Amino acid sequence: MLEAILPNIGVDEDEATDTAGNLALSQVDVESKDGLAHMGWLLNRDTNAVDIHLPINEFAATHLAILASTGSGKSYTAGVLMEEMMMPDSRASLLVFDPHGEYDSLGEMRGSETFSGDGYQPEIEYFSPENLRIRISELSVGDVMSILDNPSDRMQERLDGGWRAMQRRESRTWGIDELLREMRNQYGEDDSSVGALEWRLRRSIQRNDLFTTDANVPLDDLVSPGRCTVLQMDTLDSRDQQMIATVLLRRLYQACLAAVRNRGDDPNYDGEVIEHPLFSLFEEGHRFAPAAGDAPSLGIMRTITSEGRKFGFGIGIISQRPSKIDPDVLSQCGTQVTMQIKNPEDQKAIRTSVEAAGEEVLRELPGLTPGQAVVSGDAMNTPVLIQVRERHTEHGADSIPATSQWRKAHEKRSQTPTKSESADMGGGESSGTEDLL
Ligand SMILES: Nc1ncnc2c1ncn2[C@@H]1O[C@H](COP(=O)(O)OP(=O)(O)OP(=O)(O)O)[C@@H](O)[C@H]1O
Ligand SMILES: [Mg+2]
Repeated sequence: MLEAILPNIGVDEDEATDTAGNLALSQVDVESKDGLAHMGWLLNRDTNAVDIHLPINEFAATHLAILASTGSGKSYTAGVLMEEMMMPDSRASLLVFDPHGEYDSLGEMRGSETFSGDGYQPEIEYFSPENLRIRISELSVGDVMSILDNPSDRMQERLDGGWRAMQRRESRTWGIDELLREMRNQYGEDDSSVGALEWRLRRSIQRNDLFTTDANVPLDDLVSPGRCTVLQMDTLDSRDQQMIATVLLRRLYQACLAAVRNRGDDPNYDGEVIEHPLFSLFEEGHRFAPAAGDAPSLGIMRTITSEGRKFGFGIGIISQRPSKIDPDVLSQCGTQVTMQIKNPEDQKAIRTSVEAAGEEVLRELPGLTPGQAVVSGDAMNTPVLIQVRERHTEHGADSIPATSQWRKAHEKRSQTPTKSESADMGGGESSGTEDLL
């Protein structure tokens, strides 16, 4: 079955050689591999017979989707691409939203010869939720509405008035107390809607460790050329993950926009400026840009995928449920790496949003094994079926082999006497009964 795809999609080795360097297919002996990510090789050729490179500039500008069922190799492939982007030739500025702690092993790149050259070494930084707290004044009124559970129309009106007044203030370190004072000034001391809001605001924002009145992490600490920053979000629930993504992405987008508009030279501009392109990768992409529900992050994800190209802000969406990703966001991803997909709903989502996915590509998807992928999209003249290369760094999310782990744990337990056994042998604490006898 796998053999059938190459003739169908019309790839041959001559074409691969001819297009080396500027299109995705290239032989391993291309003269310069600058800006090319070595992903693997054509599947039904010998290992490395026809190497496949993906132009980083292309997918970093027009976005990327890595889609497959669980266990098919999405995170592994994302790891391969990140390794390539952090090589001395590219020195990318990467930001990874990692809801499962799957990218801890990327730290192996630090000091590794494979990733060093010309005095360059990649920096790999990890940020835990304590470093990612959100400054309250950075929330939009829409964010606050989505945090509070179903505020009434009157409450929304009060909040809108109060929030807008606070945002006009010069100070950005205000909190819920100041906001409540402002709303009481505007609507009266005894306004019942402000009273009802007070309880909700204190419970959902003031007493939630995620929010702070202090300054938040400077963007320069988060993103920089030659730095891969992993946001470790595995201890947060999905709503908090979405909220961090919303506020961070908005700040990053504004800062990229400011650079393009030369705001950095404007003495009246006191916002942040990011002068280099960014690429941000989202594990569980459907969580940040869902097809259904009211995720606060969806708006900014749509904005970046439709406008980010002009501002040097690229996004990579990884998901095991393509049918649960917002179709606008998915269809803006110009390069697709699709691996094994069996679920008919997800196949349908790929058919409708991935332009290059012809019937012959879709037919192959259920039969792929882990590490095999169809690469398609703007960067490719034709979809290709590839074997993704091995990682240089260890993969951080290998499946846990249940049977061997059970056996090991059982053997260990059999060798360690239980509390009651050890008590029987006289090794346990006195039960108290002994004293009575
Ligand atoms: N290119 C590859 N070469 C060798 N092994 C691979 C490759 N791709 C995937 N694998 C194997 O497949 C396993 C699953 O890969 P991975 O963790 O990337 O899956 P996933 O699609 O991210 O799954 P999940 O949706 O559960 O996160 C890996 O632990 C690894 O052993
Ligand atoms: Mg994964």
